[in-house]
Amino acid sequence: MTTFLSGRYPASRLRRNRRFPWIRRLVAENAISISDLILPVFVSEIAQNRNQIESMPDIDRITINMLDDFIGQASELGIPAVMIFPEIDQRKKTTGAGEALNPDNIVCQAIHKITRAFPDIGVICDAALDPFNSEGHDGLVINNYVANDETIDILCKQSVIQAKAGCHLIAPSDMMDGRVGAIRLALDEAGFSNIGIMSYAAKYASNFFAPFRDAIGSQQALKGDKKSYQLDPRNIDEAIRQVGQDIQEGADIVIVKPGMPYLDVVHQIKSKFGLPTIAYQVSGEYAMLKGAIKNGWLDDKTILESMLCFKRAGADAIISYFAIELANMIKRGDY
Ligand code: PBG
Repeated sequence: MTTFLSGRYPASRLRRNRRFPWIRRLVAENAISISDLILPVFVSEIAQNRNQIESMPDIDRITINMLDDFIGQASELGIPAVMIFPEIDQRKKTTGAGEALNPDNIVCQAIHKITRAFPDIGVICDAALDPFNSEGHDGLVINNYVANDETIDILCKQSVIQAKAGCHLIAPSDMMDGRVGAIRLALDEAGFSNIGIMSYAAKYASNFFAPFRDAIGSQQALKGDKKSYQLDPRNIDEAIRQVGQDIQEGADIVIVKPGMPYLDVVHQIKSKFGLPTIAYQVSGEYAMLKGAIKNGWLDDKTILESMLCFKRAGADAIISYFAIELANMIKRGDY
């Protein structure tokens, strides 16, 4: 039977390339692989054991002694790198965030432990004060303002201490002006010119961080919000200026954070600067997806789809609390 369509419009039937799995594989433009994943790890000095984070189902704070097991899973799956986030004893949190500069703090202990047991895994640490100060802010609060230059002094020392402990990349997540340049100089002067900087350059003042702040116990501490230093979600030109500045100051890699609601930012930054661009699928994004999957409202393939969307937008890698689960799915060929 001929219809008015046959042999005429449309000459091109786009569905032809979607007919079979094999042809869909041939024409696929993007893929996610285990090499694209970075695993965040919450290490706690309070927890005695696995300690479930209520707002992040299936994610635990773990002790230093449990690191070998946990990172062992990542290592076996071939996940390239981990990021360490500490939960500090409330009594150690002070206005001056002194514990950040203790060369034997839990972050440095974790770095030692991981680098010794798993020499092939990359270890990345934040430069920021929020786990350590009693105000829950990324910088020092002086006269009710997060003080820029005073904070940078401490961040430089914190970065050098973490580099000394064996950390491979420093990830400044504080959003102070000029911190990338200052940290670069401090690392170079201390003999760590090979330690890279993965800058949280496009980091927005986001409500999607709430579960993370629960996880490291900075939520109760937090006075006010972080809008005087993190980016305004209404802006993208400003994010581009910020990334440009961080690159000039010496950033090797940049992070866009949050991830899924900010794919336009990932895309523009990757296209404009062409340097390694990492998307951070943050705690709130995890909580939304995981909650819906646990309730049976979403299939767990949604996790993979979210990863492919990051890749399509231009991300080179993704920091995700799903990293282990995803790596298992990828390994099974669960596409
Ligand atoms: C703090 C920091 C935050 C995250 C990573 N580093 C929270 C914040 O800025 O308040 C958020 C990560 C997440 O939500 O998963 N410097």
